[in-house]
Amino acid sequence: MNLQNPTRVSDQKLASLTERPNVLGASGRGIRYDGISKRYGGALALKPTYLDIEPGEFFAIIGPSGSGKTTLLGVTAGFIAATEGHILIDGKSIEGVPPFKRNIGMVFQNYSLFPHKTVGQNIAFPLQMRGVPKADIWVRVRDALKLVRLDDFVDRYPSALSGGQQQRVALARAAVYNPSLLVMDEPLSALDKNLREEMQYEIKQLHAKLGSTVLYVTHDQSEAAAMAHRIAIMNGGEIVQMGSARELYLRPRNRFVASFLGQANLLHVSRMERSEAGLIVDTDCGLRLRSSAVAGDDEDCCVCIRPEAIRIFRTRPDTDNVQSGIVIDSMFTNGVQRHRIGVHPDVIIEQWQQISSESFASEMGETVFLGWNANDTLIVSNT
Ligand SMILES: Nc1ncnc2c1ncn2[C@@H]1O[C@H](COP(=O)(O)OP(=O)(O)OP(=O)(O)O)[C@@H](O)[C@H]1O
Ligand SMILES: [Mg+2]
Repeated sequence: MNLQNPTRVSDQKLASLTERPNVLGASGRGIRYDGISKRYGGALALKPTYLDIEPGEFFAIIGPSGSGKTTLLGVTAGFIAATEGHILIDGKSIEGVPPFKRNIGMVFQNYSLFPHKTVGQNIAFPLQMRGVPKADIWVRVRDALKLVRLDDFVDRYPSALSGGQQQRVALARAAVYNPSLLVMDEPLSALDKNLREEMQYEIKQLHAKLGSTVLYVTHDQSEAAAMAHRIAIMNGGEIVQMGSARELYLRPRNRFVASFLGQANLLHVSRMERSEAGLIVDTDCGLRLRSSAVAGDDEDCCVCIRPEAIRIFRTRPDTDNVQSGIVIDSMFTNGVQRHRIGVHPDVIIEQWQQISSESFASEMGETVFLGWNANDTLIVSNT
């Protein structure tokens, strides 16, 4: 994950976004999940979940396939009936409230536009369903189209639009009735990388303008990091950890989170010893490392060292941790030099560095030293 440059949006553009008025007048509602769960036969797709989402928050949910992301969105929007628990929106239970009365805008992966309706008719549809007077409908349709910069496309059919344009129409359709909550399930996964990044910006902009609360599911951790205030990581039907992208990256709770968010060198710990200088950690493979982590009593744990936290040297450095090793692979991509260093017959450590005039490209087979701070030897649970 690229934390230094999580989005292509310039600071200036971002500043202008936050200054903009809330043009459509929607304001986000807070959501409380109070032990909500979903069971399909014997399988718990969503374990009892307790969670508070702040009004106006952009909340991302990531996790592997089948981890329960869509189920959590589904019980919120009302198209999946929860097995147990309650959801409160702005403090009121939404039990028994049908989906179309929940005032929730929805956007899905495959756009789901009506092919036989024009762009304008697609966007007008949710307003017609809600009995909005005809005269108002077209004013609001035009406003919504302006919001996604498709003013001139009102009479086109979806088949005559690109994927990104179709997804923008889907966004406009979800936003047109000023929902105070927008749920999006992998809305950009069908788009190519450039378009995805452009749309990330559009969605952020939409969020800033609308002020609605956003629940956003994605497979893409960098997308979540670029867009969300907080991220929840799901696995096996439950939220394993939640926090800002930075918190999750710097303080992963367990092995799963450490390896799901960004790259991690993970080594199983056989023994830990507290000393005045901090924690001395022995790994199963025989490395002895220093860590400044405050370790719990968890016996089944591993060390996690991020590749970006490690530096590479030709001579032995004066760092808290030093490991010599042999360069097995060296690869240059996107301004980053990636090395794979064999430090033990069974252990390869990944080391990344941003390329600069001072960095060196090592050669295969060369002996090098890896150095990193005790602060960067994280201790995470194995379970
Ligand atoms: N209608 C259903 N009947 C039975 N099991 C279901 C049903 N819908 C979902 N599941 C199961 O519930 C679990 C969670 O599914 P869910 O769709 O929430 O996963 P997801 O995290 O959204 O995955 P993906 O990233 O693939 O979209 C999965 O194991 C899935 O097989
Ligand atoms: Mg899903």
